[in-house]
Amino acid sequence: MIYLFRPYVSEQAKKNVIDVLNSGTLTQGRYCDNFEEVLQTYYNINNVSLTNSCTSGLQLCYKYIKKWFSNDEQRTVLSSPLTCLLSHLGMCHEDFNPAWCDVNKSNLNINLDDVETKIDRSIAAIHITRWGGNSLDYDRLYDIKKRYEDKYNQTLFIVEDCAHLLYHNYIDFPSIKVFSGQAIKFCTGGDIGWIIAENEEQNKFFRKLRWAGLDRDNGEDFRSFQNVDDIGYKFNSNDVAASIALGNFNGALENVTKHQENAAFYDNYIRNEKVKLLPYDRYSNYWLYTLYVDDLEGFIDYMSRANIQVHQVHKRNDMYNIFWYHPLQNLNEIEDKYCCIPVGWWLSQDDKEYIVNTINKWK
Ligand SMILES: Cc1ncc(COP(=O)(O)O)c(C=O)c1O
Repeated sequence: MIYLFRPYVSEQAKKNVIDVLNSGTLTQGRYCDNFEEVLQTYYNINNVSLTNSCTSGLQLCYKYIKKWFSNDEQRTVLSSPLTCLLSHLGMCHEDFNPAWCDVNKSNLNINLDDVETKIDRSIAAIHITRWGGNSLDYDRLYDIKKRYEDKYNQTLFIVEDCAHLLYHNYIDFPSIKVFSGQAIKFCTGGDIGWIIAENEEQNKFFRKLRWAGLDRDNGEDFRSFQNVDDIGYKFNSNDVAASIALGNFNGALENVTKHQENAAFYDNYIRNEKVKLLPYDRYSNYWLYTLYVDDLEGFIDYMSRANIQVHQVHKRNDMYNIFWYHPLQNLNEIEDKYCCIPVGWWLSQDDKEYIVNTINKWK
């Protein structure tokens, strides 16, 4: 079977984890510090906080945003339902409700036209899942944010769920960005995540709140003498996870390039009138390669008989009872058509040619 996902574990990650296991320090320690430094250098930005997952990182974002608004009416977040369920849990735990926006059919990200029609004073944030690591029209988003802020004289937070990417093409964009290092993501630590804050004040908040509300950075005995102003969480990472992610990091960056090259190969060679490709996206990480087919069940069945795993990966979240269903024109049109095919670093040239030939022969 040619799989849709595979965890990437480098030789260095294996060595690092043995080192941690022999070190006597398994919890948050030097490997966490080192991995944070490596991320800061790579993104060329100071405000990076490791967490134990992207899910908890996203919850910390909404804990922060809630603190910002004393007004209880400001509890709505615009988001597309097409994402992982975990993307929406943190906001709900912090008493925010998603208001559903449609998707953009050419990249499966939130549709900014729909955002424009739904934005009003009650919106506290726009939540954006970068589907498959696909790119976004940041100029347009900035314009929406600026117009909102000028009109209502308050901050419009942008929270980017970057679980599907490692390379970010606009790291200075004024948003809070949360990444995932879960098992099948580009740079895995088993389970780990990181938040890139917009500024130092936010970063300090995330660092304190990820560990009980106590500051572990100030060198004092953090347990005994500090006061606690905010109820925190146990959302910190540990050296076992960080050592794996650190050891995987360089290879993971190379893997992003491999995914992009594999996607370009598909763009060039998949030709079947029953299959519609998305437009080429030069900034996409291509964690997923998504295409449209009219007969989804038939396609999945045909591909699995050919030993190729294909899948929708995430279903619209508004179908869950915890939310409420909202018909959305584009999403309704494509919900039974989009499908992801294997695009990852583990594919050989033979695998890719086999996948292309199999798709091209589908009738
Ligand atoms: C879009 C998206 N958001 C959030 C998550 C949750 O990430 P984590 O497992 O690191 O909490 C996932 C995980 O698959 C995801 O795909």
